[in-house]
Amino acid sequence: MTDTSFRFEPHATPLAASEREAQLVDPGFGRVFTDHMAVVRWNEAQGWHDAHVTARASLQVDPASAVLHYAQEIFEGLKAYRLADGGTALFRPRANAARFRASARRMAMPELPDDLFLGSIEKLVEVDRDWMPNSAEGALYLRPFMIASEVFLGVRPAAEYLYMVLASSVGAYWKGGMRAVSLWVARDTTRAGPGGTGAAKCGGNYAASLSAQRQAIARGFDQVVFLDALERRWVEELGGMNIFFVFADGTLQTPPLSDTILAGITRDSLIALARDHGLTVVEQPYAIDQWRADAQSGRLVEAFACGTAAVVTPIGSVTDGDAGFTIGSGGTGPITDRLHKALADVQRGRAADPHGWLHRLA
Ligand code: PLP
Ligand code: COI
Repeated sequence: MTDTSFRFEPHATPLAASEREAQLVDPGFGRVFTDHMAVVRWNEAQGWHDAHVTARASLQVDPASAVLHYAQEIFEGLKAYRLADGGTALFRPRANAARFRASARRMAMPELPDDLFLGSIEKLVEVDRDWMPNSAEGALYLRPFMIASEVFLGVRPAAEYLYMVLASSVGAYWKGGMRAVSLWVARDTTRAGPGGTGAAKCGGNYAASLSAQRQAIARGFDQVVFLDALERRWVEELGGMNIFFVFADGTLQTPPLSDTILAGITRDSLIALARDHGLTVVEQPYAIDQWRADAQSGRLVEAFACGTAAVVTPIGSVTDGDAGFTIGSGGTGPITDRLHKALADVQRGRAADPHGWLHRLA
């Protein structure tokens, strides 16, 4: 049986409280890191071993480490929230643990047992709890990841891996707070193809999405929406968020999960919450041409993107080639707003948690 206890090596010179507080005033996303990190190693002889939480520091990486050449790398993203009653909770961490194992299988990496995944995060949040911002939008974003650390240039699954968790104090994901984003439809590039790695949370998927993201920004849009690779017709997801469509009759639609879409935990939670609210949700393919026609006819009234980092983001407009269309009023629609509030209320302990999504920390 795997030992799931974490040795703790406290940071010799943690950041002074006043400096930490200064960093927490406006942390943005993914720039402020806590004092510690969690580490677990894997090799064929010992399996998972050497679990510890230690001072955050640079890694010494051999230039021939397999990850630097063949990109055997996976990651996760989840948040620890401050609750209305003063406690702290992770949101659905076992779902992240299961997705991390699924990503590992796809990338021919060893599967980290869920108890080690959970233990690594619990221990890190425990020692760096003071880094959790107090603001309404703030949270501690946890970034578990795993790299192939074997020093070897042959092309085969590595025989050594390093699993780590970073914690980052975050505020609102979008600078200046929530607003409706403009999307640009990627026509020349796709992020995932059938049989590929689109459903795995591996770094390579994000690398593949960046040239389209750069083009979108250069044209003045916020985010890219990707179509399926075969027909270039079906809306799949954004570079880092799933997508929902809201119709005038109150139904919601989201693309069905497949091997080209990441199974978002926010997506799954919103489907459940919408159904709790009496709304109908269908998981069916939606064509880009239909989207334009429905937005123009008024059949479609809202659309939003969702993910752990930004939670729910309204979509204001979409541009496909030279043609653009506006969604509803171009701002935040009422169903988007209601579902966003409902989810944030569960995450922050302001509402009941009938699905048992909160994982309370001591
Ligand atoms: N799709 C992609 C490609 C993502 O990177 C993410 C973010 O993690 C999501 C969807 C949303 O997933 P989740 O809601 O689990 O954060
Ligand atoms: C999300 O949480 O929505 C993400 O896509 C994480 C991102 C920073 C990779």
